Parts: sequence; structure tokens; C-alpha cells
Amino acid sequence: MEIIIQPSPEAATDIAARIIARQLREKPKSVIGLATGSTPLLLYRKLIEMNLDWSGVTTFNLDEYISLPREHPQTYHSFMRENLFRNINIAEENIHIPDGNAKDIPQFCMEYEQQIHASGGIDIQVLGIGTDGHIGFNEPTSSLASRTRIKTLTQQTRRDNARFFGSEEAVPHHVITMGIGTIMEARQNLLLAFGQNKARAIAEAVEGPITASNPATILQMHPVTKLCIDEPAAADLKRADYYRWVYTNKPDWQTF
Ligand code: GLP
Repeated sequence: MEIIIQPSPEAATDIAARIIARQLREKPKSVIGLATGSTPLLLYRKLIEMNLDWSGVTTFNLDEYISLPREHPQTYHSFMRENLFRNINIAEENIHIPDGNAKDIPQFCMEYEQQIHASGGIDIQVLGIGTDGHIGFNEPTSSLASRTRIKTLTQQTRRDNARFFGSEEAVPHHVITMGIGTIMEARQNLLLAFGQNKARAIAEAVEGPITASNPATILQMHPVTKLCIDEPAAADLKRADYYRWVYTNKPDWQTF
């Protein structure tokens, strides 16, 4: 894992944006995995400003709520359109977001996996992290080998996401999410986390034992995972000084 600690969400996001920009320049037909939530908002704004060429790029989103009408402002379809897709030159047919209204959800999930595979696999998967360590919507105790499937949200996640819906009761219980096994197959994972409320989940993910109780801990087993985090999210890391030293002393050829 490469832990990049920056003074602000803006500074951490700048680095993540540079990593993605380089990927798109080096491979115009890249496959990018995308995340939702408040964390990647700055990243999407930055990527829009960079005016990159997305015409050959394919995207796969991590997750979606089940049973919300697609036009509902809190679906991840609406989120992605509003915050990224309407502002970049991506081809409509290259956008993939789980369909929370699919008639046969297990069948849909199988096809989503097949589509990822057929695209050549995800080059960079953008990730946020839940306060309980969830990635995508893989809640604690998710199988660390899981594939795209239906999941039931924990009360904590529904409480965390109530701010988007106005009330906890309005947050759906069920979601479709890429599995942890799916995420682990991305060639690179790029996780962003900002704020003190992520500090415990981040410390466990980086320095704790690997456990399904914090799904992000599995990223320790991934060969290319970068974390772009701000100081408050890094607050519980025991080896923060070491990570800072490593980043500031990277040889030139390793910088982004
Ligand atoms: C949501 C999403 C995750 C996201 C996480 C954190 O429930 N499904 O992909 O990483 O929770 O959200 P936020 O960035 O708003 O803290």
C-alpha cells in the first residue's frame, strides 16, 4: 500500500487526479472504476477541469441502490450524470452503473461481471471508504472473495447516508455492489478518504489485521493500492511519519 498523506482534501485529490490523468493519456481506452459519495466529488470536479479525453474510456460504477426510480436525485445514476458524465466527452454506451431496478438481479449481477471481464478489466478503481470500512457497499462481514451481488446495508451506513436523503427511513435497505473479489481484480486501487470520521477505518485498513469486519483491510493483499488521504483521516495511523517520509523522498521516476 502506498499511503499519501496531504494537508487538505484538495491536495490529496490533486494527486489522485494526476494518477487518473496519466492513465488516460497513456491508455486512451482505459477502463476506470468509479465511486460515489461525498469523497470523490472534488476528484470529479478536478477531472472535469483537466479537460481530459474520455472518448475511448469505459467506466464501471461500484454500486447502486435497489428500487429507487432511476431519476431519483439520490440514485448513483443521477449522481454520476450530475457530477461527472454530463461534463466530459464519454460515450453513453461506455458507461456502466448497476441497475437497481433490474427484474432479475442475480442475472444482472452476473452480466455486470461479464461486462467488466469483456472490457479487459478495470485499470484503476476509485474507492471511498465507509466509517465501518466498507468499500463499494461491501459491508462488514462481506465475503472477502465476493462478486457483484445484492447486499443489505447496515444501520450505520444508512445513518451515515441519511444526510443525502433527508431522513434515515428514506435510505433504501438494499443495494447492488461489486464484490470485494471484483474490486481486488482491478489493476490498481485508488482510495480517497477525508476527515476525522474516517480515521479509525483507515488505521484498521492500513495497519490492522485483515478481516471481513473491515472490508478495506483486504486491500493489504492488493499489489497496487494507493491511498490519498488528508491529515484528519490519517490521525490514527501509527506509522504516519514513515508514510510521509516515503512520499516526500520518492525518487523522481516514481512521482505522479
Ligand atoms: C457510500 C458508498 C461508498 C462510499 C462510502 C463513503 O455508502 N457506497 O462507495 O465510499 O459510502 O461515503 P462518503 O464519501 O460520503 O463518506
